[in-house]
Amino acid sequence: MSKPAVVVTHPVLEPAPALLEDACEVRQLPNVYKHPVEKLRQAAEGVQGMLTQLMDEINEEVLSAPGLKCVSNVAVGFDNIDVAAATKHGVLVTNTPGILDDTTADFAFTLLAAAARRLVEADKFIRGGDFKGWAIDMLLGHDIHGATLGLVGFGRIGRGVARRGRAFGMRVLYYDEFPAQPDVERELGVTRTELDQLLEDSDFVSLHVPLTATTRHLIGAPQLARMKKTAVLVNTSRGPVVDEEALAEALAEGQIFAAGLDVFEREPAVHPKLLKLDNVVLAPHIASASVRTRSQMCEVAARNLIAGVSGGRPANLVNPEVLDKRG
Ligand code: GLV
Repeated sequence: MSKPAVVVTHPVLEPAPALLEDACEVRQLPNVYKHPVEKLRQAAEGVQGMLTQLMDEINEEVLSAPGLKCVSNVAVGFDNIDVAAATKHGVLVTNTPGILDDTTADFAFTLLAAAARRLVEADKFIRGGDFKGWAIDMLLGHDIHGATLGLVGFGRIGRGVARRGRAFGMRVLYYDEFPAQPDVERELGVTRTELDQLLEDSDFVSLHVPLTATTRHLIGAPQLARMKKTAVLVNTSRGPVVDEEALAEALAEGQIFAAGLDVFEREPAVHPKLLKLDNVVLAPHIASASVRTRSQMCEVAARNLIAGVSGGRPANLVNPEVLDKRG
């Protein structure tokens, strides 16, 4: 029996290539950062599956390719895929949840600490030859311990950040449209508030929502205006959750103290105003980038794809209704 054909849009880490080679006929696309949609549509012709990454725009044009059965995204987020169109065309969509929670929570906390204690500025200061000796007022930041941490979105990653915050002696608030179970709130020592209240009360605000029509620009000028002048904003979710122009303005005007950003509205572009500011720590979308986690993400995505193109049930189905409909 011939193997199912699959397209791999960008290089992936072992053991994914070996798993895919074993089970499928693999077509690797040229290594360009963002494939034009027409190229993705062409690539989808005559294959049963696609292994995609978050810079691939998988729209209805791509998803309507005849014979396409499964699109497996090597990410927990899947805002780059039109899931409704996939469901309409009977295409399974899968992601990689659960693997990267702690790695991403570690990194959110790293950004939080780096921004609060001005670590990147301090590093530049030394390398720039400005360190002439200890000074009482040099590079003053804000304490993490004893501060209030506000989590916007309280899924697996938000909860991971809550645990880290509690371990640092922080008071932890969260906002999520779905309240957590009372025993979860008790166990983690967190309190649910409305978003506006959270923004007003928190010293650190960390974002952990998926990008949807409702969360796009969830944090804009009015929300930033509610935050404390001493507050730090951390974003490891998706860039468009924050209005980047409004954030750059708030940071430049000292409306908030600092920000730590791993994601941007128009990746890989970063707002030019942000690049000029010292009170923002910038990272190139690497929150899940540990050797172990990225390799596990690739493995899980490859296994999801193999199951999806071989008539099995992938472990991480985003649109299970496709299989339920197939019966
Ligand atoms: C990375 O941003 C992911 O969604 O996994």
